[in-house]
Amino acid sequence: MASSNQKLIAVIGATGHQGGAVVRALQARGQFKVRALTRNPVKHRGLADEVVEADLNRPETLKAAFKGAYGVFLVTNFWEQGTDELKQATAAVRAAKEAGVQHFIWSTLPDVEAISGGKLHVPHFTGKAKVDRIVKEAGFAHHTFVIAPFFYQNLVSLLAPQKQEDGTLGWALPVDPTVRGIHMGDITEIGSIVAGAFAHPDQAGSGEYLPLVGDFMSFDEIVATLNRQEHEFSFKRVPREVFATLFPGAAEIAATFAWFEAHTYLGSDSSAQIALANQIAGRQPTKLSTWARVNFPTSPATR
Ligand SMILES: NC(=O)c1ccc[n+]([C@@H]2O[C@H](COP(=O)([O-])OP(=O)(O)OC[C@H]3O[C@@H](n4cnc5c(N)ncnc54)[C@H](OP(=O)(O)O)[C@@H]3O)[C@@H](O)[C@H]2O)c1
Repeated sequence: MASSNQKLIAVIGATGHQGGAVVRALQARGQFKVRALTRNPVKHRGLADEVVEADLNRPETLKAAFKGAYGVFLVTNFWEQGTDELKQATAAVRAAKEAGVQHFIWSTLPDVEAISGGKLHVPHFTGKAKVDRIVKEAGFAHHTFVIAPFFYQNLVSLLAPQKQEDGTLGWALPVDPTVRGIHMGDITEIGSIVAGAFAHPDQAGSGEYLPLVGDFMSFDEIVATLNRQEHEFSFKRVPREVFATLFPGAAEIAATFAWFEAHTYLGSDSSAQIALANQIAGRQPTKLSTWARVNFPTSPATR
């Protein structure tokens, strides 16, 4: 139970992967009062000390959502139909400033457009990077950027292994499986970085970039890691143009793999940032092998 003199953190996306992890980590730390924000507070009673309505598409809701908050965590959901990440984030930054928020933490991604010299277009990365300047220039006492990795959870959801034409279970993806380019992690662990940053603005509140990275792998290494756990997954490389037509959103995913291959997920050597993120979180992130042992369903072939 939070006491009345604890600083209040308002968390956008509290019902989702990232914001949910932030709520749980803040609660575990016990240092802050937590306000979960959602478009449907009635459906999510009891999620945190307070559950308050916030809709990034209705900026008028944000005044009450951020009222009295010391800190705000913001994530936007590119994948929800009709989302304009720049517009939503701009509204959130403005409302937070007006509410007197001291520490703003934004879940960003690298600027693919800039780093690839305009060759690659990955709007769900670049669109978030374009928000960074707005956060920097807003004049908060403290601001921090966290970078979510390629979720391990993608491998059991959107990118779960599929039955292939040759009868095997595995992946057919537009990426060179020998190129090590994927910074990955258990997204439930982003919360300890965010909570740590709110607790240590002296170390991470001056525009630091804090990526969560549990492993850095090629697709061959991902498959080998899983197959050491008695799976028999296959991998086949498919041309980007073919993959891009397979399902709605496939072109965006194909371009994302091209990015991983050419520049890596984080786009540059980020070892110092990763080390700082781990220090702020007070823990080492979980490796894929450890996560998979608990979370990867046994393959039908080996059951
Ligand atoms: N999958 C990956 O590997 C990966 C890697 C890096 C970054 N990302 C990024 O992660 C983001 C999604 O984050 P997530 O996975 O944590 O989300 P999620 O689990 O899909 O949940 C979406 C969250 O966004 C909230 N939301 C959506 N529209 C909103 C609005 N208009 N106003 C207020 N809240 C809104 C929802 O809240 P309510 O429904 O309760 O209102 C919900 O909590 C995407 O932008 C994606 O690009 C994904």
